[in-house]
Amino acid sequence: MTAPSTGPTTGSITGPGPAADALVLFGVTGDLARKMILPALYRLTERGELTVPVIGVARSDWSSDELRKHAGDAVGAVVPDVDGAVLERLQRSMHMVAGDYNDPATFEQLAAAVREQAGQDAFVVHYLAVPPSLFGTVADALAAVGLTDRCRLVVEKPFGHDLASARELNAQLRRHVPEERLFRVDHYLGKEPVEDLLVLRFANTLIEPLWDRTWIDSIEITMAEDFDVADRGSFYDAVGTVRDVVQNHLLQVLALLMMESPQHDTADDQRDAKYTLLSSVRAVDPSEVVRGQYTGYRDVRGVAPDSTTETYVALTLHVDSWRWAGVPVHIRAGKALAETLLDIVVTFRPPPRRLFHGEGGSTLAPNRIRLCLQPDAGVTFFLLAKQPGGGDIATELPMGVDFRQALGPVHEAYERIFADALAGDPTHFARMDSLEEAWRIVEPILDPGTAPLPYAPGTWGPT
Ligand code: NDP
Ligand code: BG6
Repeated sequence: MTAPSTGPTTGSITGPGPAADALVLFGVTGDLARKMILPALYRLTERGELTVPVIGVARSDWSSDELRKHAGDAVGAVVPDVDGAVLERLQRSMHMVAGDYNDPATFEQLAAAVREQAGQDAFVVHYLAVPPSLFGTVADALAAVGLTDRCRLVVEKPFGHDLASARELNAQLRRHVPEERLFRVDHYLGKEPVEDLLVLRFANTLIEPLWDRTWIDSIEITMAEDFDVADRGSFYDAVGTVRDVVQNHLLQVLALLMMESPQHDTADDQRDAKYTLLSSVRAVDPSEVVRGQYTGYRDVRGVAPDSTTETYVALTLHVDSWRWAGVPVHIRAGKALAETLLDIVVTFRPPPRRLFHGEGGSTLAPNRIRLCLQPDAGVTFFLLAKQPGGGDIATELPMGVDFRQALGPVHEAYERIFADALAGDPTHFARMDSLEEAWRIVEPILDPGTAPLPYAPGTWGPT
């Protein structure tokens, strides 16, 4: 039996939750912790945003000193010019609880460590950077020792494998924590250029009046990665591109790009607006999908020799709303492509009459706006201007700004995710109603069982 739909949670009032007295990091010895989380915790310590004890929990039989050494190595590998005093402050705040998540004794030890480091009534943020199959196990075990009574539970992605399993997982976690204390991570929501979509759209009257079917012809969202699945073969083969980045990251980007203006800049209003947009996106029609698999993928360790998992997908979405009816949204994403980038190209309708032409009488391209989110955030307006010389010949003129050059460096996504998890701000986490809509949208194209088209690594995917 599958768990029921949560239904829309629009209209709820979610203020910031209590600030954390301690951070418990499950999966502290893992890959994500090493690459992303420990460097983010260093940055937060540097800015004075992390001042509470950090208790790591994992199976490796490490002492607290071994954990501190590991943290130092992980930070040193990512952060240039590490400030020794800041690192030492972070290391001093760290404590290790070693044990298996299937063993109740691990959680007894954890409860004792929390009491010792933060006191009996501590409000604890539990961050689960562990294999998703263990999310429920850890939550049940935390509840058994009373550690869910005063906590925020933060779970990494993926949240479910499809709509039914997402609902089941949600029901299991919700037995222990209410929606407002359950934070589902989508690190794209912590990326500043993704958040900037809202500022660009709703702070600029130059843009927003044009942002609908009257003026926009089509939208393209591209997430390309020039690296392959590397050593994540067994993870990726069970997942594929649609589950890995479309259902979560790219549909969140799409929602921010196309949703109505939130009433206020609050977590609930933003998440209500995203839910409304996603609920008006039609489920993907399999006839509007191209799936690809790069040559050599089946030789990767952990990948089945006859795998039909896609490493590339291109698909078209349709938004059945007053604002967007008839405007196709083309999404493509993949691994082992020609470049690494995340960008959005919005193509406008041509002017009602074509008074001008390009060189040699050519038809002019319509206006476009390119919003680049990665690697270098920025915006480029492609305007048409008169070419110098005789005759009204128009030429395309890109006018762009690189936000990093203009505004300085941005914070990494995991810095935002942890800062907000500690402070209790749910804005940059996925709410269950939107997450269910996202699974509904991609459900018809999960696991079709047909062979994807081959493509050569380093290209733009199948022809
Ligand atoms: P890893 O396999 O590298 O790490 C898993 C962690 O969980 C380790 O600390 C491991 O401890 C611990 N663990 C696993 N099983 C047990 C157990 N039975 N008892 C106690 N500890 C256990 O995973 P990742 O770090 O790659 O991924 C963690 C989460 O982050 C997943 O949800 C993943 O989807 C998500 N994620 C990962 C990304 C990445 O780039 N790695 C990117 C985005 C999301 P030990 O090693 O000591 O055995
Ligand atoms: C993760 C996916 O969620 O996002 C990876 O599992 C992908 O496959 C990664 O590479 C991309 O994140 P970013 O921040 O590097 O764009």
